[in-house]
Amino acid sequence: MVTKYNNMSILIKNGRVITATDDYIADIFIEGETISAIGKNLNIKADKEIDAAGKLVMPGGIDPHVHLDMPFMGTYSSDNYETGTRAALYGGTTMVIDFILQKQGNSLQAALDEWNGRATGNAVGDYSFHMAVTDFNEHTRKEIKHMIEEEGITSFKTFMAYKGALMIDDRQMIGLMEEVKKNGGLINVHATNGDMIDYLIQKHREEGKLSPLYHYLSQPEVTEAEASERFVDMANYTHCPGYIVHLTCEGALNAVRNATKRNQKIFVETCIQYLILDASLYEKDFEGAKWVMSPPLREKKDQETLWAGINQGLVNVVATDHCPFMWEQKLMGKDDFSKIPNGHPAIENRMELLFSEGVNKGKITLNKYVEVACTNPAKIFGMFPKKGTIAIGSDADIVIFDPNEKHSLSAATHHMNVDYSGYEGWELTGKVKTVLLRGQVAIDNNTCLLEKGYGKFIKRNKVSQVI
Ligand code: URP
Ligand code: ZN
Ligand code: ZN
Repeated sequence: MVTKYNNMSILIKNGRVITATDDYIADIFIEGETISAIGKNLNIKADKEIDAAGKLVMPGGIDPHVHLDMPFMGTYSSDNYETGTRAALYGGTTMVIDFILQKQGNSLQAALDEWNGRATGNAVGDYSFHMAVTDFNEHTRKEIKHMIEEEGITSFKTFMAYKGALMIDDRQMIGLMEEVKKNGGLINVHATNGDMIDYLIQKHREEGKLSPLYHYLSQPEVTEAEASERFVDMANYTHCPGYIVHLTCEGALNAVRNATKRNQKIFVETCIQYLILDASLYEKDFEGAKWVMSPPLREKKDQETLWAGINQGLVNVVATDHCPFMWEQKLMGKDDFSKIPNGHPAIENRMELLFSEGVNKGKITLNKYVEVACTNPAKIFGMFPKKGTIAIGSDADIVIFDPNEKHSLSAATHHMNVDYSGYEGWELTGKVKTVLLRGQVAIDNNTCLLEKGYGKFIKRNKVSQVI
């Protein structure tokens, strides 16, 4: 397939190279898929030269939490592998990790086959899978080792909510943790208390409280704090490394603070929306459906906690939980908030939003930016240093970024397959200009130069070898 892509060498000249630890002006020489030299005034003849003077040169972003073409709440997320990974590239994200959902009663292998059917030959950017275990039993137990050692799928997602569809109980959680630990993997968790949420949803519906605001009121902070605490306690008991996805609030982060005192391997992801949007959006009547996601947006005080958590090293990753639905799909819940498909689009916006709202507003440093958006996802999920940094031998996944260019976000100009933007009209400073993926120019001049099928499945290492 890759034959139509030539093997041109590329020299990126005079850029300001930013990694999680470094900041220097240099040239980068790329041959084939990888970086082969980095230095000042490199005297090498390349097939193509890119002038990056005045620009930042950073590793390609890695978004380890996306849902592409996912069957969910009676419909499918509206970006597929082609549209989703292409939109990601436009926004400087060169690799995503998607979630395979095991069907209860079926094997993990059947789910993997289904997801391979969606992804193979369709991705434009690189990708991997987390395996969501929704039914842990003696058969599933036997599949864990194979997933880790043969398939390169080393992280296993669990849901403590979505009762009746995806949720597993604590008994299954403990069993899965023991098996995953034994084989060198990592457990991801959607940590909210499914029973409490179920109770509150039912109560609000019975009281005729059916607007999007009640989605928010059905998932108060305590539902997340309690489940996060329970998860870290179970992980402590089984010695299994854990990764809490889309953590949103102070109460949940405090549970992690306690875990770090016990020297546990617990990693935390938040998502861009929880850092910059808040629950006042649910007061906009049904328009609030644009931001119906689980967990819901929180309070301003939680945003402050999350920014501080990033700087304290407690929040390790900023992802998106990209799970887009067309407005018509959101209307499925017009008369009942519990039927609004949960999720919002952001795969294309994460890197620019985090730069503009985080770096540009002085909340995080440039190095921290690269750490949480590129390097930590690669380290935690077993891909470092192939992915997530700029170093000799690493994949040439590179973003050339203008830190001063101003632009605005809109559904009219984005590339995600969704007819609204959660950030319509937001004015940003800092724009992705050129993106390279494994040595090929992927985005230039606001055009995607790669076709579907270029994106490769990336087998990941055992987590125990990396963290
Ligand atoms: O609302 C969300 N988050 N939708 C996607 C599924 C999940 O819980 O991550
Ligand atoms: Zn979730
Ligand atoms: Zn998700």
